Amino acid sequence: MVEDMRVDYRDGGRIEIPDKNKPLQVLLNWIEEARRNELIEANAMCISTIGKNGYPKSRMVLIKHINNFEIGFFTNLDSDKANEINEDGRVSGVIFWPKLERQVRITGRAVLINRDAVLKYHLSRPRSSQIAAYTSSQSRPLESLEHLLKEFEETENRFQNKDIPLPKHWGGYVINIESIEYWSGRPSRLHERVKLELIDKRWFERRLYP
Ligand SMILES: Cc1cc2nc3c(=O)[nH]c(=O)nc-3n(C[C@H](O)[C@H](O)[C@H](O)COP(=O)(O)O)c2cc1C
Repeated sequence: MVEDMRVDYRDGGRIEIPDKNKPLQVLLNWIEEARRNELIEANAMCISTIGKNGYPKSRMVLIKHINNFEIGFFTNLDSDKANEINEDGRVSGVIFWPKLERQVRITGRAVLINRDAVLKYHLSRPRSSQIAAYTSSQSRPLESLEHLLKEFEETENRFQNKDIPLPKHWGGYVINIESIEYWSGRPSRLHERVKLELIDKRWFERRLYP
């Protein structure tokens, strides 16, 4: 069955890097285009960390911050991914928008986001998300779904008519990127790939065979 599955890419658009010293500029434009196309989770990225047993470990997160050199996301600071990043900040990420025929891959080093930025984001979230973040012991074994719902209700009742405080165990990471590769689908599998890489504090750009 899977051997017969095939997509003929047509045109993900030419890749032009306006300024290699602003390596995330094209990513920002592509996310914006994905949003305009009403693609679901246009800012979702699969991020891989180095697991304690040496195996890479991957999972989706939502990108919530981008500037020229940084990509940020929020998470539970006691989660597996947080523990792994605290041991070794080297991460890689990939984003794919099938409808746009585009992929972006990054590598970099993740560090904790400062608490002011975390608080600002926490305050901007819907109350139910704040309660879920407060309640969840992300990545730890859960007795049952009922148990989670009970804990959610307990948090809800505890803070009735009060703000949900920023949980100590909740925060985020920024990835200081060291490489980024843009991929765009083209006919006959002649896809475009352009890679920007930081070498000795300077950004280099080169095209790669598909
Ligand atoms: C589309 C999507 C977006 C997600 N975004 C986040 C996120 O921003 N932060 C987060 O902690 N988990 C997010 N998750 C859940 C993670 O993929 C993962 O299940 C969770 O963070 C636990 O991962 P860990 O045990 O490796 O730490 C998302 C899942 C999906 C499917």
